[in-house]
Amino acid sequence: MAARHRVTAPSAPQDVAELLVAWYRRGHRDLPWRASPDPYRIWISEIMLQQTRAQAVIPYYRRFLERFPTVEALAAAGEDEVLTLWSGLGYYSRARNLLRAARQIAAAGAFPRSYAALGGLPGIGDYTAAAIASIAFGEARAVVDGNVLRVVARVRNDSADIAGGRTRERFRAVAQGWLDGADPGAFNQALMELGATVCLPRNPLCLVCPLASCCHARQQGTAAQLPVKLRKTEPVALEEVLLVVRRRGSILLRRRGAELRRMAGFWDLPSPEDLPAARPGRTLGAFRHTITHHHYTYTVKKAVAPRGISKGTDTLRWFSAAECLEIPLSTTARKGLKVAGVTLDR
Ligand code: ADE
Repeated sequence: MAARHRVTAPSAPQDVAELLVAWYRRGHRDLPWRASPDPYRIWISEIMLQQTRAQAVIPYYRRFLERFPTVEALAAAGEDEVLTLWSGLGYYSRARNLLRAARQIAAAGAFPRSYAALGGLPGIGDYTAAAIASIAFGEARAVVDGNVLRVVARVRNDSADIAGGRTRERFRAVAQGWLDGADPGAFNQALMELGATVCLPRNPLCLVCPLASCCHARQQGTAAQLPVKLRKTEPVALEEVLLVVRRRGSILLRRRGAELRRMAGFWDLPSPEDLPAARPGRTLGAFRHTITHHHYTYTVKKAVAPRGISKGTDTLRWFSAAECLEIPLSTTARKGLKVAGVTLDR
């Protein structure tokens, strides 16, 4: 489907960069990864921030760096320990790739210092390579994610479909044009900050926006309708049941195998199919969980342990709440246990 496509006169690049960076320097969120120029720390933060909001990342970032303060420390870790520290952040292939990349960096003996070299590592795509190269090494590469696409669409009042590769490339060139001549690290972080705190998807705070004077959507009153993103894949609604089986303060979990590769090795609450002999009881509640366009509703039920499971098996084991903090625990298990009233605070 062709999008309505209207573009107004471009904003002078220098105005945008100057306004943006001056605004950022006047004040911004005090995020822990902004305190250090260490490329290793910036890399960890950018991987954690790929699909997760900054506020949710902060405690994970702190714990991770306390345990693995250097790339060598991370490279020497086992996958289970890395996944345990990542438990609850979701999108676990990020953690597996991080470990693979750390081992490559440690074997090479030096951290890659350019966009091109960073892009060769597992888990580092265009966005992350541009973020690390600009923030840690001052390379002039514009970052482009959903926040940046939104800012560009609005400043330019451009209603092209941002789901399309050509639009993204064109918007990347606009951001790159704004960046040229500015301090790349400050510019990129300022653009991210604007997208996260002012140029919000639903209710943009145009009254306090540093770019209001050069934003064409603001002038045309179209900010709330931009950016245009046409759906490529229809969302799918799915329903699942998880069982909470308790015995003397312990909870029965099952270890996932290779049936879903990204979750292999994680501990989860069992489903009725995992425990055909268990008697499902009262419903404790429900929660939603979304993975890309799959929208799951999980119903959490109490169940009585089937006979013969008291000792556990290779894939079914009993854990106390404290032990749950020491294993790779899936996000669905965390959410299900919360519904059941089991707290897992670190
Ligand atoms: N999102 C992605 N990278 C970020 C960063 N460095 N600071 C804040 N939010 C971000």
